[in-house]
Amino acid sequence: MTADTMTRPVNLILLGPPGAGKGTQARMLEDAFGLVQLSTGDLLRGAVNAGTPAGLAAKSVMEKGELVSDEIVLAVLEERLQQPDVAAGTILDGFPRTAAQAEALDGLLAARNQQIDAVISLEVDDDAMVARVSGRYTCADCGEGYHDEFKQPATAGVCDKCQGSSFKRRPDDNAETVRTRLSAYHAQTAPLIEYYNARGTLSKVAAMGAIDDIAKALGKIVSHLTGA
Ligand code: AP5
Repeated sequence: MTADTMTRPVNLILLGPPGAGKGTQARMLEDAFGLVQLSTGDLLRGAVNAGTPAGLAAKSVMEKGELVSDEIVLAVLEERLQQPDVAAGTILDGFPRTAAQAEALDGLLAARNQQIDAVISLEVDDDAMVARVSGRYTCADCGEGYHDEFKQPATAGVCDKCQGSSFKRRPDDNAETVRTRLSAYHAQTAPLIEYYNARGTLSKVAAMGAIDDIAKALGKIVSHLTGA
């Protein structure tokens, strides 16, 4: 069953520190189940590149590895949720990151007669995340993610997905900023694991293994939700 045949929208949250594999797995789930990946990091980087007021306010905060204000993040997310492609369901990647965002999300979904169906916490070792994030690069054309060591294109210099040949790295993917991002995760976002656990929507998935093995574990959870 794909998004076309699902009876109601399915909304999934991927929780995890920088480098946990949220973006990698969200894109794989998008391809497999037709849900739409909503990455607040991508939305904010889009706003920065477009030079919008939200982007101008977010830029220096993101470069430091700190969290952008709830007000700005909620505004960009709400705007994205108004686009028709998300009607069938979403994979929230990097959102919510604070208790205030989690509460606001409930309201945004309730206004659409929707809810959070599952929250998946990707369980990783912090020590390995600096290497994962520092080695990351993405296709400049389609955004497919790669890694210097762990996930290289089948043909060097050519994107597997769109055959593009331009790649880019994020300015916040350096060791010092990753450590700040990890601290922000533990102080402000990790408490959401207990928040969702108490609601009975949380699953923990070990995410230090191979990308394809983790994708299979997530696929089982999402299949159960969608009936696929
Ligand atoms: P955001 O873009 O969300 O970054 P992040 O949460 O720090 O997460 P990453 O994108 O670094 O990691 P990921 O888990 O997606 O890992 P990936 O799959 O790419 O946020 C950036 C900034 O925006 C924040 O710091 C903040 O300032 C702001 N922001 C965003 N949302 C916000 C919000 N809601 N509130 C406030 N501020 C917000 O994988 C990483 C690398 O590892 C890749 O190269 C990949 O190929 C590789 N990899 C993946 N899985 C594996 C594996 N199993 N084994 C080996 N390598 C792997």
